[in-house]
Amino acid sequence: MKIVFYGAGNMASAIFIGMIENRVVKPEQIYLTSRSQKEKIMFFRENLGVNVSYDDTELLDGADYVILASKPQSFPDVAKRIRPHLEEKTKIVSVMAGTQIKTIRRELKTENPIARIMPNTNAMVQHSVSGITYSENFPNKDELVELMKSFGTTVVVEEEDEMHNITAATGSGSAFLYYIYEKYAESLMDLGFSEEEAMFLTTNLVIGAGKMVEDSELPFSQLRKNITSKRGTTEAGLEALDGEGIKEILSRTLYAAASRSQELSKDDADE
Ligand SMILES: NC(=O)c1ccc[n+]([C@@H]2O[C@H](COP(=O)([O-])OP(=O)(O)OC[C@H]3O[C@@H](n4cnc5c(N)ncnc54)[C@H](OP(=O)(O)O)[C@@H]3O)[C@@H](O)[C@H]2O)c1
Repeated sequence: MKIVFYGAGNMASAIFIGMIENRVVKPEQIYLTSRSQKEKIMFFRENLGVNVSYDDTELLDGADYVILASKPQSFPDVAKRIRPHLEEKTKIVSVMAGTQIKTIRRELKTENPIARIMPNTNAMVQHSVSGITYSENFPNKDELVELMKSFGTTVVVEEEDEMHNITAATGSGSAFLYYIYEKYAESLMDLGFSEEEAMFLTTNLVIGAGKMVEDSELPFSQLRKNITSKRGTTEAGLEALDGEGIKEILSRTLYAAASRSQELSKDDADE
């Protein structure tokens, strides 16, 4: 199998490092290119043993997958490079947020199979939860899902439009959780902890809670109830949190992110 990455930035590297570390593919099956020859991409060649090239004929010759991993605004330039050399058998996989399948088709002038995936940066620790949607003619979907297991878990989205909700839920979702952790640490400082103590306490609380969620297999509500006794300290805190409308705040947050994703993809389709 030959997998070619157009773009070797944060998201691409999380993906190909996951693939190599999990031995899903061998380093020599991976080809990287970027906009310009940079130290970073050479670092990958030296340290991982992947191929690096700026020759599109060589890159696309016999490619099984082309991964579109530039920013959406760079895609027209990427498409110009790919278009003349794209072979019929090559499947296209885009990680670009908000760029629709029809836009990719239009720019590449191709009927080749196209999948869109929406990973998140937890791919760096092989824990992305990624959405995936396919064009109707995408063959052997299981092979792609297997490849994606190397950097986390995958949720198949039947309608491309639903990718907006996945983008909000998991693409942006980590940032929402980090923001809550950040505010939690700041609130600990209001209680009198030093910055260092607040960071230490919050970090370990988050790690411990994550492990409990993973290991106990109990629903979140049960984990919460297990540490909430009648008229106790936890109940007092939870009442304050509910009084502030935590559920409504989070619903508005996710709705805003999903709506923005919709707006961005409309801009992109109207170009
Ligand atoms: N980061 C996330 O959390 C996240 C989550 C989901 C999806 N995504 C999507 O992932 C994509 C990449 O994001 P990122 O954070 O990895 O960006 P990034 O770190 O800026 O990487 C972009 C890469 O694209 C390359 N590139 C630009 N123009 C190119 C061209 N004409 N030919 C070949 N390569 C070209 C850049 O090369 P140079 O370094 O030479 O400029 C760079 O290697 C975006 O479309 C984003 O929507 C990101």
